Amino acid sequence: MELVAVIFLPMVLLMAGAGVLVVSQVSSFMQSSFMNQRQRVSNSMIQQYMVQIAMAQTQIYARSAELERLSRKLALSNQELGSLNDMKTKFLSMVVHDVRTPLASIRGFSELLIKKTPGEREAQYLKNIVASTDQLGRLIADLTDLAMIEAGKLKMEKAIFDSGEIARDIIPAISINAQKRGVDFVVTELTDGMMLNGDKFRLTQVLMNLLNNAVKFTPQGHKVELTMRREARGIAVFVKDSGIGIHPSETKKIFGKFYQARHQKDEKLRKQGWGLGLSIATEIIRAHKGEIGATSPGLGKGSTFFFRVPYGL
Ligand SMILES: Nc1ncnc2c1ncn2[C@@H]1O[C@H](COP(=O)(O)OP(=O)(O)O)[C@@H](O)[C@H]1O
Ligand SMILES: [Mg+2]
Repeated sequence: MELVAVIFLPMVLLMAGAGVLVVSQVSSFMQSSFMNQRQRVSNSMIQQYMVQIAMAQTQIYARSAELERLSRKLALSNQELGSLNDMKTKFLSMVVHDVRTPLASIRGFSELLIKKTPGEREAQYLKNIVASTDQLGRLIADLTDLAMIEAGKLKMEKAIFDSGEIARDIIPAISINAQKRGVDFVVTELTDGMMLNGDKFRLTQVLMNLLNNAVKFTPQGHKVELTMRREARGIAVFVKDSGIGIHPSETKKIFGKFYQARHQKDEKLRKQGWGLGLSIATEIIRAHKGEIGATSPGLGKGSTFFFRVPYGL
C-alpha cells in the first residue's frame, strides 16, 4: 500500500502540474487574442475619429476662409458707406449754402418792390413771394442744422442769461401766429430771473418749434398754454395744447429725423412740415444735458410737450 502511494503520488502530482501548465498556456493564448481584438477595435475607432477630425478640420478651414472673405467685403462696404455719408453731408451743406444766397436776394428785392409798387394786386403778389421765401428759409435753416448735426458740428455757444428771455423774445410772434389761426395762446408762468448757462439762441429755437407745432396742430377755437417752472436742478418748460393729439405708439417716434405721425389723418398739416423740428430740438436739449418728451392722452385729446434744462452754472 505504501509502495503504491510512493509510485502513484508523484505521477499524480506530475500530471496535475502538466494540466496546470496546459490550462495556463491556453488561457494566456486566449488572453492575447482577446487583447489583439480589443487593440484592433480601438485602432479602428481611433481611425474613425481621425477621419472625423480631418473632416471637421477641412470644414473649419473652409469656414474660416469664407469668414475672412466676408470680413474683407464688409470692411470694404463700411469704407464705402463712410465715404457715401461724407458725400451726403457735403452735398447737403453745398445745396443749403447755394440756395440760401439767391433766396435772400429774392426776398430783399421783393420787399423793395412792395414799397415802390402802387398797385394793390401787385403788392399782394409780392407779399406772397416774401411769405414763400420765408417758408423756404425755415426749411433751409432746418437742413443747415441737420447737416451740422450729421457732421458733428452743431456747437452750443453757452453763456449765462435769464431763462425767462427764451420765452419773452418769441411770445409776440407766436401770439400773432395763434391769432391768425384762431387759436387761444395763454402764458401761465415764466421763470424770469432764473439764470441759465446755455445757448440762448438754440434754446429759444427749441421753444419756438414746440409752440409753432402746438399752434399748427390745434384747430381753431382751441387753446395752447405755455408754462415755465423752476425745479431743483434747472428749469422745466411745458407746452400744452388741446389739439389733434398723438397716438400712444408715436409719442417717442416723432422725435426721430423726418418722422411725421402716421396716425394723424390731416394730410394738409403734414405737408406744412418735414418732420425735422423735433429731431433738431432733441439734439439741442441733449447738448445741454437736459431731457425732452411728449405725452398725450390719445388722438383728438391734445398733447403736452416738455423739456428740462439744468442750470449749468
Ligand atoms: N403739438 C402737436 N400735436 C400733435 N402732433 C404733433 C405736435 N407736435 C408735433 N407733432 C407730430 O410730430 C411730428 C414731427 O414734428 P416736427 O419734427 O416739428 O415736424 P413737422 O412740424 O415739420 O411735421 C409732426 O409731423 C406731428 O405729427
Ligand atoms: Mg414742426
